[in-house]
Amino acid sequence: MKVRILGSAAGGGFPQWNCNCGNCDGLRRGSVHARARTQSSIAASGDGGGWVLFNASPDILQQLREAPELQPARTLRDTAIRAILLIDAQIDHTTGLLMLREHRQPHALWCTAPVREDLSTGNPLFGVLGHYCGLDLHEIPLHGDFAIDGVSGIGFAALPLTSNAPPYSPRRDRPQPGDNIGVTLTDLRSSRRLFYAPGLGEMTPAVWSAMEAADCVLVDGTLWTDDEMIRLGASAKTSRAMGHLPQSGPGGMLEWLGRLPAATRKILIHINNTNPILDEDSPERAELDARGVEVAWDGMVIEL
Ligand code: MLT
Ligand code: MN
Ligand code: ZN
Repeated sequence: MKVRILGSAAGGGFPQWNCNCGNCDGLRRGSVHARARTQSSIAASGDGGGWVLFNASPDILQQLREAPELQPARTLRDTAIRAILLIDAQIDHTTGLLMLREHRQPHALWCTAPVREDLSTGNPLFGVLGHYCGLDLHEIPLHGDFAIDGVSGIGFAALPLTSNAPPYSPRRDRPQPGDNIGVTLTDLRSSRRLFYAPGLGEMTPAVWSAMEAADCVLVDGTLWTDDEMIRLGASAKTSRAMGHLPQSGPGGMLEWLGRLPAATRKILIHINNTNPILDEDSPERAELDARGVEVAWDGMVIEL
């Protein structure tokens, strides 16, 4: 199984168009040692031929230009994307669907029932796409395994996460199971597993079991501290209130990652542009290195 990181940043990307935080301003000026990053998406393939796209970011066109494996060029209009799976209904995970409207047939689209509802009401994206290529909708089960047609060699299993529904959702701040999911991808030949959860607000026993069972965890790296956005004056909300477990502090992501076996590959993804770990010379980044925790970057490939 091959997993390609298409976009490793949180909503807004890095640098964010209107942001002059130390990271964004420093990256533009060349005074901070960091890589630019596009918004949250990955693609996975079991056979190198058919790929499943996880989330369709606002940066999808740039991401596809940089991923030649996803354009096999067999016919005049072509793609290796066999299906699209949404892990939530957030803007940074869904807006790119509009950019993929020229598809020759309806996109095979996998999402949970609450995500389908949000994308048909609060943000009526599915209705709009019905006027272009259309969608062939499949409901993601919240328990048990599922397979995706055209994506051979990988088994999928979803897990409801405690996080939040999008700001436009009729259920904002009253999330229900299925608003956000984590997904375990299992290579059916090697049985090796990857757990993917870019928006993880709380560690539950089910999430922890999925992480313990994985050979690689690719998890929420949005913010370093719970009050990062408040201290910067960028938001009134804590990281946890936005549905993202911060890395540092008691009960933070690093504490949890430290309890996983040394052999488990630990990678942070969905990094917000304010997060000090983006600066490769920062003490926070050195702490990750010392703990054996990696930071995903656009173009990174994970083979399992
Ligand atoms: C999130 O991950 O919390 C959202 O994507 C934030 C956003 O859309 O700006
Ligand atoms: Mn996001
Ligand atoms: Zn910034």
